[in-house]
Amino acid sequence: MATETSKRGIWNSRIGFVFAAAGSAVGLGNIWRFPYVTGESGGGAFVIIYLICVALICVPYLFAELSLGRHHQRNPVGAIKAITGPSGWLLVGGLCVVAGMMILSYYSVVAGWAIGYVAKDVIAPHTSFEEFIASPGMVITLLALFLGLTLYVVIGGVQQGIERWAKVLMPMLVVLMFVVIIRSVTLEGAAEGISFYLYPDFSEVGFQTIMVALGQAFFSLSLGMGTMITYGSYLPKRENILNSGGYVAVFDTSIAILAGFMIFPAIFALGFDPAHGPALVFVILPEVFAEMPLGGLVGVLFFLLLSIGALTSSISLLEVVVAYFIDEKKWSRKKSVLTIGILAFILAIPSALSQGATGFLSDMSYLFGEEGLFGQNDFLSILDFFFGSLFLAVGAFFISIFVGWVWGAHYAAEEIQQGSSFGGTLMKVWIFMLRYICPAFIFIVIMGMLFDII
Ligand code: PFF
Repeated sequence: MATETSKRGIWNSRIGFVFAAAGSAVGLGNIWRFPYVTGESGGGAFVIIYLICVALICVPYLFAELSLGRHHQRNPVGAIKAITGPSGWLLVGGLCVVAGMMILSYYSVVAGWAIGYVAKDVIAPHTSFEEFIASPGMVITLLALFLGLTLYVVIGGVQQGIERWAKVLMPMLVVLMFVVIIRSVTLEGAAEGISFYLYPDFSEVGFQTIMVALGQAFFSLSLGMGTMITYGSYLPKRENILNSGGYVAVFDTSIAILAGFMIFPAIFALGFDPAHGPALVFVILPEVFAEMPLGGLVGVLFFLLLSIGALTSSISLLEVVVAYFIDEKKWSRKKSVLTIGILAFILAIPSALSQGATGFLSDMSYLFGEEGLFGQNDFLSILDFFFGSLFLAVGAFFISIFVGWVWGAHYAAEEIQQGSSFGGTLMKVWIFMLRYICPAFIFIVIMGMLFDII
């Protein structure tokens, strides 16, 4: 077992795991996706539903993934197989691998935009964001650059690659966010944005909104597709899963909330529409930077750190898929990374071209009508809703049933107890949440949304 573990890699230290898992969690989901879905979903009420989803569903569920991963020291498919042998449950593991692949594809496209914005004044001065992302040569080159970086880190393996990067750069991002927030909230007219963000108006909330909030919570915490199973599998037994997971959840959620404070005051102060869609952050932030002393420099640094945040997330997406091929198919790390990287690049091309470069991918109303599919009409956004929200919720539904009922919540609880004081009432509450509340809540939300649509 010891040799097996060392071959697979193991985190150097708890802080290494916390930073790597936080690195996976914090990324475009917090800074790009959270503000734009909040803006589209009406502001304060969405934020409250999101926070409830995190606390009530995602945090209990996070411990299920971590315990399953650490117990069997395997990727999602391997961990499930170690419990049931060949069975239909393996399909759930397969779902994780597919979701990882699909999310990685469009995630890399958006991350490419962020990289492009680091050097925008040099590579595309005087171009609007809309023109920028509609230029096929530009977006595909940036996509290739970002994916290439992701492959480079993941080939390095767990310790040398992921842990080292995450440790240094995450704290820098936080500091810079505070600098931007100070400018944003002191702009004239910022108060209106703050009240949009904090004042809840539940009159417009339907199942679709709750679904988006739940999906966003899963996406942001990297849950529902086995990332935390995979990262948990590199955790040594002496580690305290409760503390480590708790830090990650609090840190990730704080970054999302801070991102809102960066964006919403500025949106209203500068007269933009909060429901601006996926372009929101890229359009608003440069305007804020323009209002700052040394704004050019702040902009470059900000997009640089955002790209790095995206990188620490994309490496976790890739790692899930790679761990599957290494563990189950006995491929070498290099072969797995290169094969999957090329596939992800090919899969990403339609998303890259769906923001204005190619008509039939940018507006798919010929398939889904003016309303779009789940309100989205371009390929990237449809993929994002489908895999980044719905699939993750479905994945979490099955994994919570699997850990709660098939493997058995008591085994999971025992695993968590190794290294942490997790007993008595707390354990009972957790088991109840995992077995009943998580699956029931997710099921009701998905069904509610599907019926709303019909
Ligand atoms: N949590 C990442 C973010 O917020 O940007 C995205 C992500 C990474 C989602 C890994 C899912 C995942 F498994």
